[in-house]
Amino acid sequence: MKISLTYDDIQLVPSFSKIEHRSSINLHSLISRRYGILSPFVASPMDTVCELDMAYMMFLMGGVGCVHRFMTIEEQVNQIKKLKEKIYSDGFRGLYEDWNILDSNWHSEIQNVPIMAAIGVQEEDKERARQLTNNGANILLIDVAHGHHQKVLDMIKWCKMHLNANTDIIAGNIVTKEAAKDLENAGADGLRVGIGGGSLCTTRIKTGFGVPNVTALEDVISVAKTPVIADGGIRTSGDIAKALSLGSSSIMLGSLLAGTKESPGRIIEGERGALYKRYRGSASLETKLSHNKEARNIEGESEVIPFKGGTEFVLIGLIDGIKSALSYNGASNLNEFNPKYVIVTNSGIQESKPHLKLK
Ligand code: XMP
Repeated sequence: MKISLTYDDIQLVPSFSKIEHRSSINLHSLISRRYGILSPFVASPMDTVCELDMAYMMFLMGGVGCVHRFMTIEEQVNQIKKLKEKIYSDGFRGLYEDWNILDSNWHSEIQNVPIMAAIGVQEEDKERARQLTNNGANILLIDVAHGHHQKVLDMIKWCKMHLNANTDIIAGNIVTKEAAKDLENAGADGLRVGIGGGSLCTTRIKTGFGVPNVTALEDVISVAKTPVIADGGIRTSGDIAKALSLGSSSIMLGSLLAGTKESPGRIIEGERGALYKRYRGSASLETKLSHNKEARNIEGESEVIPFKGGTEFVLIGLIDGIKSALSYNGASNLNEFNPKYVIVTNSGIQESKPHLKLK
């Protein structure tokens, strides 16, 4: 019987370092086979995480936001159009001049600034996919809870056959080698990994299915030929460092970006001036009801969470933590970041957290 591990079960082991300044570390990576990012972050396609404002801020911070699909085709296309306009009218040049210092191994393949949108696997999603890519989206994410599914394979093949040739298709969510091979054989240009490990997920409780994140990533990455997105359960920059150390190319964030100024939804005022926003699972009752869907197959929860201010500050904190992690490994970029890990006991987990007051 195989034992599966998740982030708290491991700790990275330091190694010799000659890194003098964290500022000399770069975090460039790939989001999919042909698209690069300057910071390895993706905003999750959830209706309380990523619409136009978040996607634009992610771009400014060097990452990418995936605009969710819980809206009409027209609304989603409109957001992508506006995003493209904003990207090309402001920020673009200054920010992406940085590409010059990208690793030459894959620099040649970088085509353009990614813009990214989610689709499903229903017949109407073909029209969604067509319109999104005709209006500027160059990466589509097939956003399905169980990605190792015939409908996902069919949708990847359809997209590859009918959409603009510059469109990369990322598919998921998956947690096994077999799924990775099948999706890539169908033509996927990237894989989204993680089932049931998200902060609001109840999939594992409701169905008993799911694989803890470290093992899921190791299994998929052991066979993957395309970039892997680690998705779900990321709470800290330490978790991100662990996911990157296993070979993930980018990290998808839900709860860490929810509750920010750029996340969709209004700010709620609580007692004594405390501010909040809502964060809800895509398969939660609240999300289903608010999109007029049937109140069945509920596999997520919804919460109010404290308002965090600008996304920028959240990401800067994460970037600082990740750069520090690379310096503990003597790595000046993500290609070089390859620390070993040890498996820790419960006492190790306790020791890893502030514990002065623990008796
Ligand atoms: P975090 O931990 O970053 O996780 O908040 C975000 C990821 O959670 C997944 N997700 C769900 N999983 N039921 C689930 O089982 C849901 O309702 C649900 N909504 C989101 C998704 O992969 C997301 O990126």
